[in-house]
Amino acid sequence: HGAPRAVLRWQVRRGDPFATLLSGHQGLHDPYPLIDELRGRGGGVIKTPVSLATFDHAQVRAILRDPRFGVRPAIDAELLAPWRKLAERVTVPPNPVEPPSMLVLDPPEHTRMRKPVASAFTPRAIARLRERVEVVTAELLAAMPAHGSVDLITDFAARVPIAIIADMLGFPPADRERFLHWGDKVTPLLDIGTSWRTYRAAMSAIEDMDAYLADHIATLRRAPGEDILSTLVSSGDLSLRELQAGASLLMGAGFETTVNLIGNAVAALSAHPDQLALAQQDHERWPDVVEETLRFDPPVQTTARQTLEDVDLDGVRVRANRTIILSLAGANRDPAVFPDPHRFDIDRRNAKDHVAFSSGVHSCLGASLARMEAVHALRALYTRYPNLRLRGEPVRRNLFTLHGFEHMPVDLGPVA
Ligand code: HEM
Repeated sequence: HGAPRAVLRWQVRRGDPFATLLSGHQGLHDPYPLIDELRGRGGGVIKTPVSLATFDHAQVRAILRDPRFGVRPAIDAELLAPWRKLAERVTVPPNPVEPPSMLVLDPPEHTRMRKPVASAFTPRAIARLRERVEVVTAELLAAMPAHGSVDLITDFAARVPIAIIADMLGFPPADRERFLHWGDKVTPLLDIGTSWRTYRAAMSAIEDMDAYLADHIATLRRAPGEDILSTLVSSGDLSLRELQAGASLLMGAGFETTVNLIGNAVAALSAHPDQLALAQQDHERWPDVVEETLRFDPPVQTTARQTLEDVDLDGVRVRANRTIILSLAGANRDPAVFPDPHRFDIDRRNAKDHVAFSSGVHSCLGASLARMEAVHALRALYTRYPNLRLRGEPVRRNLFTLHGFEHMPVDLGPVA
């Protein structure tokens, strides 16, 4: 199309749809009308001093694959302007959204952190975990009542991914609760405009987590196991700080996102019983349900990149060191790529063109794992409880970047 319609300057103004999208009530509950409003502004670039943004599928994907754009820490001094002075004065411990986490490193440093763990996440490696996922899911379902109601998130969706990633990294089952707690405190750091109180709580959780990880890593040096972290420790290639950052990123990314995928799928299926019926009639359709959920209601809504040099973007000159917010959710609802984008349709042929797992060098390492977990969890859930229904309104997580539910009361109905 050529026009720079999708490139928007971000204005942090009360009532501005972009500010609302990233920090307002509606952005939290139903971001898609705001995304459409911003997309519809098209035809030009809105200039403000803070940031650019795009909601356009082609552009989001092009930027993610373009080496002239780099990553930057999510705790971004520019975006956290109100807390900048304070943030400068505290010592920031290593954490999942700061270097040396691979998520916020450009190549070649990025490659150095990603390569040693990549082989554990290939589709072939993940296929070997299938039985383990089935066992974990079956155990959770067996612990649920034969009928009555449960919280689908806390009793089920949140428990599958943490069990698997904790096993993969070699953390004992007894320590899963701690990670869930730390995850709760740390994930708000991904959002823009985090309050000082939230920031401090996150830093304190990170300190606890790092102390725990240092202990755990010391144990693995003496007696390594078969797990990913033991392999990393034994290779001797990474510093303690790098090991801590790697382990906390893999843990956090491993369970804070897939929970949303499972929950968002249940929400979408509940609102679209015809689509649920398709999957219930033919169990081979569950991968389509998962793919369409990733497109329709992505668990990670946005990411950001920074220009490493001056770049010409859709006819607009962008200077080096500017941030551009990439709306993965916006790209996934781009009508140019997905006709009738607001329809949840598991028959969609190109659902896989979504960018829910990003693209380019930072493309989600856990994509195969997340898909496999979600397919098995959903299939097993609806097989045991074919009449499962929402029981009232589910409660949203108070997060913008990670999009999902904190609680989802459901009526299980009779077991099959
Ligand atoms: C990166 C989404 C599950 C590990 C990413 C990114 C996205 C994403 C969007 C890239 C961010 C960017 O480009 O800036 C998701 C979603 C998931 C999911 C939607 C679930 C539905 C997982 C799981 C793991 C994982 C289960 C397991 C360990 C990672 C890692 C990265 C990453 C390590 C960083 C990759 C890099 O920087 O090279 N994920 N993720 N993710 N994800 Fe996932």
